Amino acid sequence: MLYQKPARSLLAVFGLLFLMASAAQAANVTILATGGTIAGTGATSTTTVGYTAATVGVQRLIEAVPELAKVANVTGEQVFQIASENMTNEHWLTLAKRVNVLLAQSSVDGIVITHGTDTLEETAYFLHLVVKSRKPVVLVGAMRPSTALSADGPLNLYNAVLLAASPEARGKGVLVAMGDQIHTARDVSKVNTSTPDAFRTPELGMLGYFQGSKAFFYRQLVRKHTVETEFDVSALASLPSVEIVYGYANVGPVAVDAYMAAGAKGIIHAGVGDGSLAAKVVPALKAARAKGAIVVRASRVGQGILARNGEANDVELDFVVADTLNAQKARILLMLALTKTTSSKEIQRMFYMY
Ligand code: SIN
Repeated sequence: MLYQKPARSLLAVFGLLFLMASAAQAANVTILATGGTIAGTGATSTTTVGYTAATVGVQRLIEAVPELAKVANVTGEQVFQIASENMTNEHWLTLAKRVNVLLAQSSVDGIVITHGTDTLEETAYFLHLVVKSRKPVVLVGAMRPSTALSADGPLNLYNAVLLAASPEARGKGVLVAMGDQIHTARDVSKVNTSTPDAFRTPELGMLGYFQGSKAFFYRQLVRKHTVETEFDVSALASLPSVEIVYGYANVGPVAVDAYMAAGAKGIIHAGVGDGSLAAKVVPALKAARAKGAIVVRASRVGQGILARNGEANDVELDFVVADTLNAQKARILLMLALTKTTSSKEIQRMFYMY
């Protein structure tokens, strides 16, 4: 009995030291909040559509998941508070610059970006090309607002922080953590308007899963990204104007002509099938190229390689093909490519490299 008290207090001191040591060792993860459904609120717990996105601040998001403290030292920063359909090139430049500043600090080990799901894949791919660090950057969102029954935001956020804190995520480019899965920013897409399993990398495949508070990787991207790219946004205040036109039955030249009249420097043509061009659109695209705009053939199909010199003679037309990138990601790569060159050959090289 006499010896129990000192033994207990000694144990308590060791316990405290152990907790302090683990807190010091835990990774430091910064959450940059930008809005979206993960920060959304609905009128009732069964409101899963027709809610208001971007109403909950980053501190409340963090407080709602106390388990975050078990996997990292988490701090939050509200960068924007918007629904992601309002994301602009200027938002991307601001965000990328902030990410690069934070990751250059030795006190930051990883970054999580909370984001609306509608353009999450675009922001993720933009950062994938311009972040200058091997430290993990993870984008996360939610399909259900924070007030909904079975809201998916808290677990998605927990997984994202876990991933950003994990050494295995280093050097893998920008990642997306949604629905217990890990995806690469290059290939992931939102494929469902409203269900919680809306994020997929259908044919090229996701990179891994979350299970039992651990991230498991099974494959990795071979295309270059982050520190391996030639893109540098540190001095950029804007990006060249690149627009997307869609292919469909009965399409005409109006959209291409209008974008060119508005000063577009690049046109992404999301064609039918393997990027086929309707005969009525070809003269408008040729005229765009003759005026110096870069024309990129992509496909509206969503999967597969866009065959160069397949459905159009790209060499003769001096067009570029998007490889496997969807039109919205091709737009991002073309904007960045145009900050470096106007040579269609060089730009085609970039589409096969990134
Ligand atoms: C948005 O993209 O901001 C709204 C939709 C969502 O986050 O799921």
